[in-house]
Amino acid sequence: MSIDELSGSELGTKTYWDRSYNEEIANYKNHGDVGTIWFDEDSQFRVINWILKQETISSDVSIIDMGCGNGMLLIELAREGFSNLLGVDYSENAIKLAKQIAKDQELNIRYQSADLLNTKLCQQQLGTFSIVHDKGTYDAISLCPENPKEKREAYLSTVNCLMNENSLFILTSCNWTEDELLISLADKFIKKCCIPTPTFKFGGKTGSVVTSMVFTKKII
Ligand SMILES: C[S@@+](CC[C@H](N)C(=O)[O-])C[C@H]1O[C@@H](n2cnc3c(N)ncnc32)[C@H](O)[C@@H]1O
Repeated sequence: MSIDELSGSELGTKTYWDRSYNEEIANYKNHGDVGTIWFDEDSQFRVINWILKQETISSDVSIIDMGCGNGMLLIELAREGFSNLLGVDYSENAIKLAKQIAKDQELNIRYQSADLLNTKLCQQQLGTFSIVHDKGTYDAISLCPENPKEKREAYLSTVNCLMNENSLFILTSCNWTEDELLISLADKFIKKCCIPTPTFKFGGKTGSVVTSMVFTKKII
């Protein structure tokens, strides 16, 4: 089964993110504004609350945030006591902003710039993690104006390489439904659960604005 690709947008380009985080750095310096938290703070706290409820997840588990942006999810996890945190983004400006925010809040979070489409390099440089987290990055990659399908697949290969047999992949998307994610991820991942998100009803059908799902790695 296949899915229809999304129309390309500037959100799928590095130029867009470099420019956007450059503006956010200036806003942070001038007004202390940390910038955009994609899909709002509630999406972030739903994921954090889900993690906190899992008895098998201790505060020293390794967590990578893929396409971390300003790093606010990691900031909140650090405040909850998580100590083994890495944020990765291909925009140097995002990493600069995230590092400055963490430093100002005296929180110990590692950040690294890397292109998550470069599976081989990521595998060599990053290692494996107990939790691989993504909010909005798979979405951004899906919006690449050129070869989005190949890029989505390269990204999912990177995610797969950063996981071991017990790792969790937590994915929050506003562009793809649960059914579409299940089709796209079926080759490499198995659904563990959905993190409930608010739903709306229209014309007798129920839908969600965002989808948050947890996957494990398919062991072949
Ligand atoms: C919608 S933003 C989400 C930011 C953050 N996760 C959040 O929830 O606020 C998408 C992020 O993915 C990053 N990104 C997009 N493509 C990437 C790639 N190939 N490698 C690394 N980061 C990427 C962008 O720079 C941007 O920070």
